[in-house]
Amino acid sequence: MKDDVLLEINNLTVEFHMFEGIVKAVDNLSLVIKKNRVMGIIGESGSGKSVTAQSILRIVPTPPGRTTTGEILFRSNEGGREKIVNILSMHPRSAEIRKIRGKEISMIFQEPMTSFGPLDTIGRQIAEVITTHEPEVKYEEALQRAVGLLSDVGISRAEKVVEDFPHQLSGGMRQRAMIAMGLACHPRLLLADEPTTALDVTVQAQILSLLRELQVTRRMSMIYITHNLAVVSEIADDITVMYLGNMCESGDVNTIVKNPLHPYTQALWKSIPGMVGEITRLEPIAGTMPSMSAIPKGCVFCTRCEHRISGLCDGDKRPEPVEVENGHWVNCFLYQKN
Ligand SMILES: Nc1ncnc2c1ncn2[C@@H]1O[C@H](COP(=O)(O)OP(=O)(O)OP(=O)(O)O)[C@@H](O)[C@H]1O
Ligand SMILES: [Mg+2]
Repeated sequence: MKDDVLLEINNLTVEFHMFEGIVKAVDNLSLVIKKNRVMGIIGESGSGKSVTAQSILRIVPTPPGRTTTGEILFRSNEGGREKIVNILSMHPRSAEIRKIRGKEISMIFQEPMTSFGPLDTIGRQIAEVITTHEPEVKYEEALQRAVGLLSDVGISRAEKVVEDFPHQLSGGMRQRAMIAMGLACHPRLLLADEPTTALDVTVQAQILSLLRELQVTRRMSMIYITHNLAVVSEIADDITVMYLGNMCESGDVNTIVKNPLHPYTQALWKSIPGMVGEITRLEPIAGTMPSMSAIPKGCVFCTRCEHRISGLCDGDKRPEPVEVENGHWVNCFLYQKN
């Protein structure tokens, strides 16, 4: 693992074994998250974004989920000692992964009530996260830290809000409180799974700039999952585009937004609202996403691709990612040398 890398996913495959058959939610995915950078993961519904994030924390429900191949290497810094660990080799209920989950790597979701229980105050719930991971910290001190965290995320009168129950806060405030809980133990990596999708646009913009600011001041890395191109271009340094569990294209944000090479990325950019600027009509991507039981054996996008080369793209082999320029990876037969 290179020095500037915090997390490296190599050839991750996650399947769900269902009554109707096997669903490959993540298919041979490789991804690199650098220190102090934000990786945006974008893709249509069902492309495997959430399952990728769940795999990093080992919270994929098993069964029916099953990880068949791969490794997830993480540069842990527990107790100030840096060492590289393979998260996938840890048992989901082991002490090892519990030390990482919620401490070195934490996650925020679209719906704050998935993190907060309804029956306890915000302050007690944040304090509990702190005392779980840092048993030497006294409860009163943890509660004080919760007040500090809440004001860090822009909640005024934080000393009052610690005593509130989650349902007493507005949607935007609850989202801020969840971010505070996610940051409670100073994670090195924050996984954000569509945390602003349910909010109105102005609040969404505030939360995005808050997250960006916290990421910079706390020197964290972040994975930001979204369907939204404007959001990802706002917050990310790097982007990975996913389709049906596969990485299509990956690279730094400017390159991928301005010069997309994969036919799926090009079609996706035309089909979803982008940033402010020229107003153009959106064009839906032709065809429909194949059902999980009928995923093509060759390139997963071949059934909808305008540039499909028959006999190759719809053959038996998946394309291999190619580095077309420095750090810009494209997983498409059009760019393969042989
Ligand atoms: N717990 C589960 N049991 C069975 N199948 C699942 C489970 N979780 C995810 N899947 C399947 O895995 C695939 C990828 O799901 P995932 O939730 O990662 O998609 P996503 O990209 O996050 O989509 P969305 O944008 O809608 O959140 C989907 O086909 C989904 O049906
Ligand atoms: Mg999801």
